[in-house]
Amino acid sequence: MNPNAERLIRETWMQLVPTRAVAAELFYSRLFAIDPTAEELFAGKPMHEQYDKFLKTVDWLVQTLDYPPRVIEELQALSRRHVGYGVIVAHYETVGAALLWALEQGLGDKWDADVKRAWTELYIFISGVMVREATPSSA
Ligand code: HEM
Repeated sequence: MNPNAERLIRETWMQLVPTRAVAAELFYSRLFAIDPTAEELFAGKPMHEQYDKFLKTVDWLVQTLDYPPRVIEELQALSRRHVGYGVIVAHYETVGAALLWALEQGLGDKWDADVKRAWTELYIFISGVMVREATPSSA
């Protein structure tokens, strides 16, 4: 990821700090609206805990942007746990769409083409690692 994209990710993530919980809520409600099969996976789970876990993970990923092997290994382990939660590859696409949408809502006029490109690149990278790990032929 180029330094300008990294800077944009860090800056916009910081700008979201005061409204992160709202952004997380927007993210899940958007996800469940566009993909009811994702909602089924969370049935009966305390969503506030989930917001927290999700935000902490994004926080960690935003802080480590250069992704040494240790981070890749953790993402692969996260992906294997997700297979156990019933997550399938197609979910990564709807999760990505809901995440970008929630960031756009949260950032308002700070959301522009460069910011969108930077977050898209980051999500493609993260989901790419997770999807490859979850795809049997990659073994
Ligand atoms: C793209 C990156 C993703 C990240 C960073 C992420 C992050 C997390 C984290 C940190 C947890 C807590 C449990 C653990 O660490 O194993 C979790 C659980 C979970 N995630 Fe994800 N996730 C991602 C993608 C997805 C996708 C695509 C789905 C599909 C809808 C999904 C559905 C779930 C479910 C169902 C749980 C378990 C909830 C529970 O049993 O309490 N996640 N996720």
